[in-house]
Amino acid sequence: MNFIKVETYDELSTKAAAIICGQVAMKPDCVLGLATGSSPLGTYAKIAEKYEKGEVDFSKVSSINLDEYVGLDGNNDQSYRYFMNTNLFSKINIDLAKTNVPNGCAADLAKECEAYDNLIKQSGGIDLQLLGIGLDGHIGFNEPDAYFEKATHVVELDPSTIEANARFFASEADVPRKAVTMGMGGIMSAKKVLLIANGKNKKEIVEKSFFGPITPEVPASILQLHPDLTVIYCEN
Ligand code: F6R
Repeated sequence: MNFIKVETYDELSTKAAAIICGQVAMKPDCVLGLATGSSPLGTYAKIAEKYEKGEVDFSKVSSINLDEYVGLDGNNDQSYRYFMNTNLFSKINIDLAKTNVPNGCAADLAKECEAYDNLIKQSGGIDLQLLGIGLDGHIGFNEPDAYFEKATHVVELDPSTIEANARFFASEADVPRKAVTMGMGGIMSAKKVLLIANGKNKKEIVEKSFFGPITPEVPASILQLHPDLTVIYCEN
């Protein structure tokens, strides 16, 4: 594991953007695994800046996002599809048809999950997976559990996750209770993993996840077993 501690969120975002753009430079038709939430906002802004400067070309890149709320379609401004379109895809020259976010409105969610795992396989595998981390150690929406769930699945969000994500909604009652998330199999099969975390409130879970025992009660701890993991943490 490559654990990098930086002083500022700006530094974190600059480094993460450099790693992602470096991946695209090395393999122009790579598959990027992408995340939503507040952590990657700075990274996405830096990527957009690099694109504006002509430093990176996303025309051959495809992407596979981690998760989506159940019941929110892509036009809903709280959906993760909307988040990705707004904060990244509309700012770079990625082909929208090559971007993938689970469909949280699929009539048959079990089939949607199976199809998502097939998509990951058929893509040839994710070259670089970007992750944030929840206060309870979730990655994607893989919440603390008695075991690590391998496949893409529908998950009931933890009360702590609902509370944490309420800041994006009008009220806590509006936060969807369920989500579709890539499972640990999809995440761990990525060739490289880059996890970014910032803030004092993440310090304890970052320590537990990367320096504590590997347990499904701390879902991110499984990443200690990944052969190519980079964590960038900034306490401020
Ligand atoms: C988002 C995701 C989540 C977030 C996590 C941290 O696609 O998969 O695991 O990365 O909830 O969220 P923020 O960055 O908002 O603290």
